[in-house]
Amino acid sequence: MRESYSSCLFRKTSVPFVMIDTLVQPKTFSKTIPANLEEEILRLKKELNAVILAHYYQESEIQDLADFVGDSLELSRKAASTTADVIVFCGVHFMAETAKILNPHKPVLLPDLLAGCSLSDGCPPHLFKKFREGHPDHLAITYINCSAEVKALSDIICTSSNAEKIVNQIPKDQPILFSPDKNLGAYIRKKTGRNMLLWNGSCIVHETFSERKLIGLQLEHPDAELIAHPECEEHILTKAKFIGSTSALLKYVQNTTHNKFIVGTEFGIVHQMEKSATGKTFLPLPPEANCACNECPHMKRNTMEKLYLCMKNMNPQIEMSADLLERARKPIERMLAMS
Ligand code: 13P
Ligand code: SF4
Repeated sequence: MRESYSSCLFRKTSVPFVMIDTLVQPKTFSKTIPANLEEEILRLKKELNAVILAHYYQESEIQDLADFVGDSLELSRKAASTTADVIVFCGVHFMAETAKILNPHKPVLLPDLLAGCSLSDGCPPHLFKKFREGHPDHLAITYINCSAEVKALSDIICTSSNAEKIVNQIPKDQPILFSPDKNLGAYIRKKTGRNMLLWNGSCIVHETFSERKLIGLQLEHPDAELIAHPECEEHILTKAKFIGSTSALLKYVQNTTHNKFIVGTEFGIVHQMEKSATGKTFLPLPPEANCACNECPHMKRNTMEKLYLCMKNMNPQIEMSADLLERARKPIERMLAMS
């Protein structure tokens, strides 16, 4: 007589059925928040031998608690080199995914799995695949703000701090597709003189800045310099004294003798600017509407409470198939080698 599937499984695993049953039951996670939140996060960090990586757009309490705060390139470099057993990523989904791709065997925790990115959301893999198929002779250089599936369909990944350097290493006669940020793409096109074909995507935060309000602010503060992230639209970038990634903006305000700045990026970075360039003044570049649209709603989904709970519950974690991990790793490794 054929052995039933369940009894075969029982024999192979020697696990009582009642236990298998509990394994497939949805796990109940703790929702209790301790009063000494910060202390508990640090205790869990030690217990798990975890490293906490945070982007500059995270709330200031998270930045202050993190082992390392950086831009996308620095965070992926840290993720690639860490000796910690667990990576706790305080940033958005594509950043935590990159950390997982570089550390397939380590748990990578993200406090809120729904912390996405408008650039990534605006570039669905099936449409990106069609875009590539329509231009088979083009090399696909893709901004790191995209999903693992889109990374796997790309030739080389870049960030705002190495895009120019990477594009300059590509032979002049090689046509390029640049995705998904049309503003960063147009900026790099201008800097390198390369006629790249651009995906039509943008960041909901960086496209919100108002030129009208910028002019008003400059009239009010004629001594303030505009510094901007290359995800901003061209009409803002043309007025900027300095353009760079979040880390480059931070270094600029630290090293210049200038004292007052209008900051054309997500305002979370001002926390590090105020800490390391003390005494200088930082004014937020306002959005056209009277809203807090210069805050990234995705980044701000992560809170101290969710950071504690993800470490306590070891959940949520970034999960991907081995095949996707493998395919997405190659273009990221090319980026790390070229930058
Ligand atoms: P950086 O790589 O400059 O930190 O940029 C990431 C990002 O998402 C900016 O919106
Ligand atoms: Fe994405 Fe814009 Fe938020 Fe950066 S600021 S994570 S590009 S939505």
